Amino acid sequence: MDQRPIGVFDSGLGGLTAVRQLRRIMPHEHIIYFGDTARVPYGNRGRETLLKYARQDVRFLRSFDLKAILIACGTVSTNCLEELRAENDIPILGVVEPAVERAAALTRNRRVGVVATRASIGSGAYARTFAGLRPDLQVTSLACPLFVPLVEEGRFRVGDVVIETVAEDYLSQLRTAGVDTLVMGCTHYPLLEGVIAKTMGPAVSLVDVGAEAAAALKNLLADRDGLTGDAEGSAAYYTSDRAADFQRLASLFLGEDVSGRVSAIDITRY
Ligand code: DGL
Repeated sequence: MDQRPIGVFDSGLGGLTAVRQLRRIMPHEHIIYFGDTARVPYGNRGRETLLKYARQDVRFLRSFDLKAILIACGTVSTNCLEELRAENDIPILGVVEPAVERAAALTRNRRVGVVATRASIGSGAYARTFAGLRPDLQVTSLACPLFVPLVEEGRFRVGDVVIETVAEDYLSQLRTAGVDTLVMGCTHYPLLEGVIAKTMGPAVSLVDVGAEAAAALKNLLADRDGLTGDAEGSAAYYTSDRAADFQRLASLFLGEDVSGRVSAIDITRY
């Protein structure tokens, strides 16, 4: 048994899709979340900048005594996982492998799509992981750089003409490629699940990277007897920009009021 909290971070609010799942499948755990809303989006940045930001995010989280860190950010998982693992002596999980394993298990026609940020697709990490695990799959990867800013603006609902137009423009290529499974390779994208499902059609299975990573973390902790006991879990949220903005959108994303549990910090100090 290990009572220490789990650290979770993302460039902004997208990682809350992983938190939502963590809270559902591990209700007794304590979670410390950091969303770097002052510097979102990460997805268009170069690798050096991403590494600098990711190291600061981890240093902040490690000001708490954590038992593990979940990188609830596809962009950091695809670009910085190795370095963060080498530099830290606690388990650090990214989102790529669990999602790839799930997609490989789901596909029937062996055509899989991956949508993610420009930095994630550019890193080649999803394509490499698929090639290592299932070289027989045909993988079509696509960067969707407008999705994150629209989600952060709250434009993620079915019926919103702006997000539906952008989704159609991006995703029609994947319909043409005939994929039957689509990895939503950025943790912001599950918030667009309704829009993406509507655009891709009912025959396409969607993989939520945050949810898959949360399940992988649960397995990892269970294997090493690292889960907490039965007491009620908790979640505290930290943001690098205005707490009120984070609180409003986070409550919406999580479907739970987070008032009084959000604090602003200066991430440049870490
Ligand atoms: N949610 C993040 C990801 O999974 C970051 C997106 C961004 O900041 O561009 O890639």
